[in-house]
Amino acid sequence: MAFGKFGKYYPGGIDFLPENLDLHAVLRQEVDEFCLAAGAGDRLVFRAVTGAVAVRSDRKHLKYIVVNLLQNALKYSSPGSEVRISLAADEGQAVISVANQGIGIPQAELEELFSPFYRASNVGDLPGTGMGLAIVNKSARLIGAEIEVESVQGKGTRFQVSLPR
Ligand SMILES: Nc1ncnc2c1ncn2[C@@H]1O[C@H](COP(=O)(O)OP(=O)(O)OP(=O)(O)O)[C@@H](O)[C@H]1O
Ligand SMILES: [Mg+2]
Repeated sequence: MAFGKFGKYYPGGIDFLPENLDLHAVLRQEVDEFCLAAGAGDRLVFRAVTGAVAVRSDRKHLKYIVVNLLQNALKYSSPGSEVRISLAADEGQAVISVANQGIGIPQAELEELFSPFYRASNVGDLPGTGMGLAIVNKSARLIGAEIEVESVQGKGTRFQVSLPR
């Protein structure tokens, strides 16, 4: 079974259960919960340039994506710097963006990032298993989202998640 070896990383399972959601409300709730759990409220800035965003999607996979991107943004960033998460939408798609200043990712390694257990060569002593983005990738595929990453080594990184509407 394709998901067998990743099963333990998905506490809520990997089945796809779409429901009608307001992505704006879902995101606000996930960010609030994350801030409490990670004690990161002073570093996270959530900005929505839209009102309610009706989507048919799976809340659990949205959570896997958002939590892993936020964890990375906090971990690979300059101490005390802001991590920005934003939501924008038009009729065709909704776009979630997570951006941080920090160590960045070497250009030549961007392609490999989503492979299980891959970690970039500049992580130094920062801890990790290299599984977060493999989960993001799997969840994104299940909900039909596309992930793009832009990064400048030593400067910062932005991940964009585009969901069809
Ligand atoms: N915001 C970011 N800034 C810089 N590098 C990043 C960022 N997000 C991911 N990376 C790079 O991508 C690699 C893979 O990320 P991933 O989340 O899969 O693993 P991880 O954070 O090392 O471990 P974990 O399994 O705990 O998430 C990281 O090791 C790091 O090299
Ligand atoms: Mg990670």
